[in-house]
This record gives sequence, C-alpha cells and structure tokens, in this order.
Amino acid sequence: MIRPRSLPASITSAAILALVLGAGSTRIRAQQGAQVTQDAKPWMDRSLSSDARANLLLQQMTLDEKLSLLHGNGMAREAQWQRPLTRDSNGGAGYINPIPRLGIPAVDISDAAYGVRAAGAMGRYATALPSNLAAASSWDRHAAYAYGLLIAQELRAQGFNMSLGGGINLTREPRNGRTFEYLGEDPVLAGTLVGQLMAAEKAEHVISDIKHYAVNDQETGRDIVSANISKRAMRESDLFAFQIGIRDAQPGAVMCSYNRVNHQYACENDYLLREVLKGEWRFPGFVTSDWGGTHSTVQASHAGLDHEEPMDDFFGPALKAAVEQKQVPLAEIDDHARRILRSYFDDGIMDYPVNRSVIDVEGHLEVTQQIEEGSIVLLKNEHSILPLDAAHTRSLAVVGAHADVGMLSGGGSAQVDPPGGNAINPAEGAISFQTHSHVYFPTSPLKQLRAMLPNTKVDFASGDDLSAAAALARQSDIAIVFVQQWEMEGMDLPSLALPGNQDALVEAVAAANPRTIVVLETGTAALMPWAGKVQGIVEAWYGGSRGATALARVLTGVVNPSGKLAITFPLSDADLPHPVIPPLPAADSGAGAAAVSTGGSTHSNYSVSYDEGLEVGYKWYDAQEKQVLFPFGFGLSYTTFAYSELHVSGGTKPHVSFTVKNTGTRSGAEVAELYAMLPSTTKEPPKRLVGYEKLRLAPGESREVTIDVDPLFLTVYDEQESHMRVVPGRYSFAVGGSSQALPLKQEVDLPGQLL
Ligand code: BGC
Repeated sequence: MIRPRSLPASITSAAILALVLGAGSTRIRAQQGAQVTQDAKPWMDRSLSSDARANLLLQQMTLDEKLSLLHGNGMAREAQWQRPLTRDSNGGAGYINPIPRLGIPAVDISDAAYGVRAAGAMGRYATALPSNLAAASSWDRHAAYAYGLLIAQELRAQGFNMSLGGGINLTREPRNGRTFEYLGEDPVLAGTLVGQLMAAEKAEHVISDIKHYAVNDQETGRDIVSANISKRAMRESDLFAFQIGIRDAQPGAVMCSYNRVNHQYACENDYLLREVLKGEWRFPGFVTSDWGGTHSTVQASHAGLDHEEPMDDFFGPALKAAVEQKQVPLAEIDDHARRILRSYFDDGIMDYPVNRSVIDVEGHLEVTQQIEEGSIVLLKNEHSILPLDAAHTRSLAVVGAHADVGMLSGGGSAQVDPPGGNAINPAEGAISFQTHSHVYFPTSPLKQLRAMLPNTKVDFASGDDLSAAAALARQSDIAIVFVQQWEMEGMDLPSLALPGNQDALVEAVAAANPRTIVVLETGTAALMPWAGKVQGIVEAWYGGSRGATALARVLTGVVNPSGKLAITFPLSDADLPHPVIPPLPAADSGAGAAAVSTGGSTHSNYSVSYDEGLEVGYKWYDAQEKQVLFPFGFGLSYTTFAYSELHVSGGTKPHVSFTVKNTGTRSGAEVAELYAMLPSTTKEPPKRLVGYEKLRLAPGESREVTIDVDPLFLTVYDEQESHMRVVPGRYSFAVGGSSQALPLKQEVDLPGQLL
C-alpha cells in the first residue's frame, strides 16, 4: 500500500487532509467486519502473500470456474451488450460472476474517471471531481491521492469493487476528444500522479485499473487505427507513463486499448502485453480488454490478454473449445485465472466485502472544491486585473457559456450525472450513457460571484447576441467572458479553436471594455487569437461539482491560484506535430467500422504515424524551436517567487537542492519544476521533466527544496539492447517555475547504469 509522499502539511488543505487521514477508519471498520465472516479456507489467511493465496485458491477450481473469471457478462443499459446475467450486477460497465462455493465475490465494475459514472441513472448521487487534466494541473500528489480516495469511497458506497479510471494516455494529440480524461503530455507528471490516484483506490479495496494501453492517442477510427511508432519513442513517452504509474501503485488491472499499435491490435499485441508489461515490468495483475476490444481467442490469450469485456465472444465457449483442442494450454488458463485472483487478494476485495452506504456528500464537495482551487491556472494578469478589487468594482458583466446556471463537464464513459439533471436543460432527465449532450453541473459562476461580491452589480448576458454582450460590458467596470470547448469520448475536436461565435464574442466584449477577463472551461488546450486584447485569462477546465465556488474564490482573491499547465497551449493547429488528424477513409466509416468496434476483424489500412517520436508536447516545441501561446508548466500567482542556491550532486541518484522564496505580499503555493538536459550523444529532445514539488509559502518565507532524482526518469531506451539505461556523460539540471522560465542551471557528470 502506497501513501502519498509526505508534502509540507501547509500545502494540504483541510478537507483533503481529512479525507486522506480519515481513510484509516474506513479500513478499521472493514477489517472488523471481515474478521467475523472469515472462515477456515486456507486462502483466507491474510498472513500469506497475494501470490500464495491465489495459488491455494486456484488449486481448488474447476476448469469452468477458472474460465468464468476470464470474461464479463454484459453491460447494463448497452443494447448490444445485454445478457440475462446482468440482472445480478450493480448496473455498471461490467460484471464478473462470483463463485460462492469458494467465497469468491462478484466483481462489479464502474467507470470512474472523474467520479462514479452514471450514478444518477442508478438512482444515486456521485461527486464530480475536476477533470483529470485539471487535477494534473495542480501538480499536487496529495490532491491526486485524495482524488482516488474520493472515487474509491463513492464506488464502494454504491456497491462497486472495481474502477475503470486511471486514464493516462499522453497528450500526443491535444485534439483527442478524451484529453480531459488524461493527465497531460509529460510521462513523469502523468505517471506519478496516476500512481497516487490508483494507490488510493487500492488502499480502499477497489481493484484499480490503468488505461488505455497503449498509444490510444486519438479517437478518430479508434477501433481500427494503427498507431505506428518506434519502440524507443513509445518506451520513453506513452509507455513510460504506464511504467511509472504501474510501478508506483501496482494496480490490479491494465486495460488494453481499442487501437492497433504497429499494425497489431493492442489486446493481442505480444510486444505490449507479454514482452513489456508482463515481461520487463513484471506486472503481476491482469489485463482486461477495453469494451469490445478483443479480436481473437488463441492469439489474444497467447499474447497475454487475461480477460475479455464486456462479453464472452472470444473468451467464453470459444476459449473452452480452444483448450479442449489443445490450442491453448491449461497452464495459460491457469496463468490468466491466477493473475485475476491475485488482484482480488492484493486489492482487498476478498477480505473486505462491499457494503452499500450513504456517501459523505458534504465532505466530498469540500474535497472537489479544494482540488479545483489548486488546479485553476492563471494565464494572464495584466495590470493586476485579478484578483477583483471588490471595493472598486461597482459593476461586473458576466457573459457566455451558460455561466448563469452551471459549468461544463466532459462526456462519454467518463460522464458523471449532475444532481437534478443537466443544469442547462433539466427536462432532459437522467443523463443517458453515450449522451451527446453538453452536460452542465449546477454550479453557477454568476451566482457565486454575486454571493462573493455583495456590493457589486453583477449582470449576465448569454453571449448569443454580440452587441448585447458588448453593450453590457461597456457599461460595466469589468467584464468576464466565459468560453468553453466540449469534449467527449468517441470523437476528436476538428481544431483547438473555440467553437461557434466565441472568439468573436471575446473580441466584441474586449473592444467594448479593455478591462476584460476570459475564463475558459475546456478539456484541452485552446487557441486564443484575442489573447493580446484582454487583460486576464483564467483556465478553469471542467471544474466538477463545486467548480463555480472554487473559481469565484480564485477570481476574488480568497484563494491564490497555483495551477500550472500540464499541456502546452500552442499558437495554432498548424504548429502541432500533425496539423490535421488523418481523416478516416470512406471505406472505414459506417457499417464496416461498427462491426469492427464490436469485435470483428478488419483489414483497414487506416494508420497514423507518430513520426515526431520522442517529441511529445513541450519536447516538440522545444526541439522545433516553435513559439507557443502558453508553455508546459506555466501558471501565474497573485504573488511572486524567486529561486536561488541550486546544488546538484552526481552519482546514481542525483541529489538536487535549491531555495524558493515568496517575494510578494500574499501567501501562495508554487510548483517548483526540475528539468534535465541529457548528454547530446543521446539525441534526446532539449529537456525533460525529472522532478517537481508544490510548496506553500507565506510572504517573505523561503524554503529549501530537495529532490532525489529517480534514476528511471533519466533513462533512454536502447533499441539494440532492448533496455532502459542512464547514459554516462554530462547532464544539466535546471529549476524554475515553468518549462520556459528556468533561472538556475548546473552541470554534473553522471555514471551510466542499466535499469
Ligand atoms: C472506453 C473505456 C471504458 C469502457 C467501459 C470504452 O468505450 O474506452 O474507457 O472504461 O468503454 O465503459
């Protein structure tokens, strides 16, 4: 069980701390309950290792019982995936049958990217956290742990014991419609944060899952596309994020993705599953397919797929027949079943049965608010227009994006249901699966600003009529324009440009009143042709159940913003490694593609070549010397910080220390970022993130930060020798508050090492 690395207590706000510390009492309660039900079955002896317990249990199982663990039994409410057995399930994404004779519980599976999916459709309530990309922008390990803990507690309270969260596909393509579900473009930031999130889920006895393995970096043609990429590039970028997350949290499950990687489906890809995941990384848990992502029986089983979801098209009767015909050895079935059982033990679902209960609604609202407060990124603050000066702001225009009623959320299998239904259209009723609605949570920026600025006249214009919005802005002291970009699984954005008339709206308001602030609610980067014409820019992301409260507290200065971008904001689509996502060939759209998505075979040649290789995100812009709108790691504060006294000592685990001082007049939190420049012989992009620390400082306060650099973060992948190694030579380490503001730098010689 992994606990968040200890951070200065001051960074951890009260609700997050209460959630993290309070987790212990849940365990004690569960432990007492489990002792009563524990019987004499030898595999229930908790002093044994998870491996030993799984082996003991496996010995008692018949072939049919083993096979029953290797597939799901349908998906509630998905027409094409219905099975009679789903009536026993809790109504989530998947269900694995119990084996009561041996005390093996059912596994009830729910999606839970930023909260428990579709709770409303099941007559329950769930808290929406800020989107995963938002939370990554907090650069806060404690917040990531609290995020996972909240999800795990709500899952168990609703009767689930397995989570489908842990999305970590790197933002190689920021127009990917699931960017909001992932943790940004850097493998060290994403991997370490997802590690905390999944460790918290595991600690609460939920089988955690990391997905979508691998290189599922776009939604266009996701069931057929071949992501073509060199081994070195994937090992140091997309796969590296998984490697770190799996090492740190040891999740119970890995979900293989829909797409092909170098022409081979991910769920039957020997290199990804057998060679790397289970071989080099020694992953002891099980691999589940994405829903409908299995394409074969014998090949997938040999390659290392352990479990098919959500049905048994390939791992049901067909697998039994393959065993009988000796195409699949019994030892392979044992290996699949053993891995699944091991996760049941290791993640605690054998010892801690789920008990439905009422979730801590109030406490969890506090937590989601505080995570959002640490995730909002202040991108521009000319003339210190922010925080709003309540005493001198007599009138405020709030414009656009339904800010009068709510804030946007991301769609698809991640969708959490807002209480009361969609805030912009309650008549819509329960939010159905796969909804294509823009779903707003009832957290209204307009109402929160009115509450926090009682002496200011705060008026609203929808933004549909540009001249009405401009007229309101003209007669107000300050204007805040809300803009949004909605994302959903299954589709990519055509562009990072804001849709509809939103750019024109910002231009019109800014022309009417130069004291204009723009608040973005986006799930990815956005283009801002108007950036030079407004005085303030705030990225609020998809802010979760309490987004508006968090935002209003930042805008009014109750909270000092401390988020930093986890993805680069480019100047235009043309600056991306691929200015256009390759369009789907006509032959692959329509009925043929639908057959593929439910498990059929395909002969499609649709592919995308990730020829930018190692140059993902900021590494691309650095290497190509391209200007960006806002760089990776960038974010402003209402105070200022200074860096001094960098010391780096060499060796196999370089020790880095430096001092950060709050040089302003407000207390605030700073994310200190540590980058390494590798020896030129490695032919790596100019720099990579190798460490970070978030610290809260009072005005005038200084603190020494020490980081022992994880040697894994310094490795390159040697394609000839097939291993990761630290290349001996001269390294530079640089620290600062953004990937493009690194005031201190020191060189040091490091020895070579194999990892
Ligand atoms: C998504 C997964 C999700 C699964 C179950 C798939 O379409 O890609 O992320 O967990 O459905 O809902």
